[in-house]
Amino acid sequence: MAVLEILVYPDPRLKQISKPVTQFDGPLRSFVQDLEETLRAGPGGVGIAAPQVGRFERIIIVDVSSKPKIKHHGRLVLINPEILSQEGSAVGREGCLSVPEYTGNVARSKFITLRAQDEFGKPLEFNMERYEARAVQHEMDHLDGLLLLDRLVSRRDLFRRQTQEATAPKTKTS
Ligand code: NI
Repeated sequence: MAVLEILVYPDPRLKQISKPVTQFDGPLRSFVQDLEETLRAGPGGVGIAAPQVGRFERIIIVDVSSKPKIKHHGRLVLINPEILSQEGSAVGREGCLSVPEYTGNVARSKFITLRAQDEFGKPLEFNMERYEARAVQHEMDHLDGLLLLDRLVSRRDLFRRQTQEATAPKTKTS
């Protein structure tokens, strides 16, 4: 297991489009473990996507279970995720391990039906709402080379973080 280095904006690699996973093998599962360790090491992260650590494959991890009073499905490894349907729209504040100095307001679908595979290739399907649905949509954007900076509701919807947060451990700021 290892904590991997996180690519930080404006690293051009963050704009790359990731490829579907086709091999559900031991090396994939060991990468997923490293990705999860990297997520856990970061400051308050609820999700991470493989391209954020320079692996351009369609793999995300989402776990919003630490947030109080929300509906969620626990820790999710979501490989080749696809949104089958979506409904409603809401604006909410988002942060990103790859944009450590800012948060921003982004509009996302309130309800989604999601299809994905787990790290063994088993098909999964979830109905998700609000915060969890937002986290999944944010991480899926990384797979298509998009950051919250590309999705801001307006220019005034970008906010600089407090200094302590911006320099929290494990956040690469150089
Ligand atoms: Ni992000």
